[in-house]
Amino acid sequence: MQVHYRLLEQDPDFRLRQAELEQRVNERLMAGAAGLRGSVTTIPAVVHVVYRTSDEKVAAAQVKSQLAALNKDYRATNPDRSSVPPVWLGLVTDARVQFALATRDPTGKKTAGIVYVPTTLGSFPADDSVKAKATGGADGWPSDRYLNVWVCTLADGLLGYAQFPGGPPKTDGVVVLNRAFGTTGTATAPFDLGRSATHEIGHWLNLRHVWSDTEDCTGSDFVADTPTQQHPNYGQPRFPHVSCHNGPNGDMFMNYMDYVDDDAMFMFTAQQVVRMQASLDGPRSSIGK
Ligand code: ARG
Ligand code: ZN
Ligand code: CA
Repeated sequence: MQVHYRLLEQDPDFRLRQAELEQRVNERLMAGAAGLRGSVTTIPAVVHVVYRTSDEKVAAAQVKSQLAALNKDYRATNPDRSSVPPVWLGLVTDARVQFALATRDPTGKKTAGIVYVPTTLGSFPADDSVKAKATGGADGWPSDRYLNVWVCTLADGLLGYAQFPGGPPKTDGVVVLNRAFGTTGTATAPFDLGRSATHEIGHWLNLRHVWSDTEDCTGSDFVADTPTQQHPNYGQPRFPHVSCHNGPNGDMFMNYMDYVDDDAMFMFTAQQVVRMQASLDGPRSSIGK
């Protein structure tokens, strides 16, 4: 959210484009949930691995394990979805989005979709510096055609951060901590199921946190089928966890847009999928097919 507020100040048009997108989401909600994109959208992704040590140079197998995890989570084929409390099982929804490593680079040359970029920096704060060669990171590929994923060592205990739709193209994409990326190699419990990327790409497709970044029950995530929730949840909460008069079922802490451990989050809801699909019809309409 720090990154988001900074960008809103730097780029007044971003605020406008976000407002337009909200308008579109509302229109979409009134028109019913059927998407303009009939079936499943495949989004080409490029992974920029920014490394100094050999540990940070995550192997192709680890990158592929991340893609596999994303494709389960975004198609609601993740086996752990059966752990959703029975009251909410009916809300578990296929986002109709999948991800594939890019096979062509921006110039049309064959690529594996993974770019290894050495750096001299020990870690990156959440200031977008990893997104430019000039600041020790890697330049992104055109964000109207690719999902940019930067994988690096992050400062301050961050697992990742993302940019919402409508922001500056050069910094568009998601950043994920190397040790919280994928399910093999250096991926480390409790963040070793690839869900940091699931969460960050949720933001990239316009999802807000389920507690809506306010701690007084007045905020909204603009999603009608997630209960209003007071705080982020961490670890592995036990159902139900009640806040904001949301009993008896309480917080939907098993939603990907909370802050629980990877093995405690397993769902997007129907209305979250409407928001994601609305951004694919709107500001992200040029990406994927
Ligand atoms: N931006 C969040 C953080 O850095 C990401 C949370 C992801 N949660 C997870 N279980 N992987 O804390
Ligand atoms: Zn988040
Ligand atoms: Ca809600």
